[in-house]
Amino acid sequence: MPKIVAANWKMNLRRQSAVELAWALKSDGRKCWLFPAFPHLAPVHDALIGSELTLGAQDVSPDADGACTGDVSAEMLADTGCTLVLVGHSERRHGHGETAELLARKLKRALEAGLKPLYCVGETLEQRKAGKAQAVVKDHLSTLAGTEGIAAVAYEPVWAIGTGETATPGQAAEMHAFIREELKKLGLRLPILYGGSVKPENALELMSHPDVDGVLVGGASLELTSLRAIDDAAREIE
Ligand code: PGA
Repeated sequence: MPKIVAANWKMNLRRQSAVELAWALKSDGRKCWLFPAFPHLAPVHDALIGSELTLGAQDVSPDADGACTGDVSAEMLADTGCTLVLVGHSERRHGHGETAELLARKLKRALEAGLKPLYCVGETLEQRKAGKAQAVVKDHLSTLAGTEGIAAVAYEPVWAIGTGETATPGQAAEMHAFIREELKKLGLRLPILYGGSVKPENALELMSHPDVDGVLVGGASLELTSLRAIDDAAREIE
């Protein structure tokens, strides 16, 4: 299976720079998954027409259309051309106190609207040091029980996100193998991406392991040259 390269642009870029990046990736014939900020979804969607790039949102409301000021419903995202949505990112779990119960509602809403969630899991440094990394990840994965239509799982150790510190290929491979086993118990067969300070320098080594089906890239996805280099690494392995 071809390796997946997903770009999480987070709260970065401007309308023009996001569209330019999308255009450049399109003219390059890339097949990445792009997650721009909400205001950039529509213009990026238009730029992607005729390409093999896939559009996703970074968040989704747990509620259906209605009186939810500031929220964006799953149907609105689908209507804007999104096919994917991030759920469970640590910047939402920890930064916004999103609970397992809330994430389950988001997953349900996304799936009902035909969106495919990219579901993120991962432990904090404290949890890893306490020997609880697998227990935490297992707990995060339990939210997927009974679901159908998930795009992929991303293992993102919180201590590696935006810190420049990457999990070693060994650490990533070990957790990916564990996740695969846990997913099997839930009756799920999904691609498992690694995320957390992925860069052109480490992408090839990380993705070389058969249990690493791709990468979810934050910081390094904001620059065309680094995103291209990471995607080139993915293509090299195919
Ligand atoms: P990073 O972010 O590549 O900047 O560490 C990854 C992510 O949070 O998805």
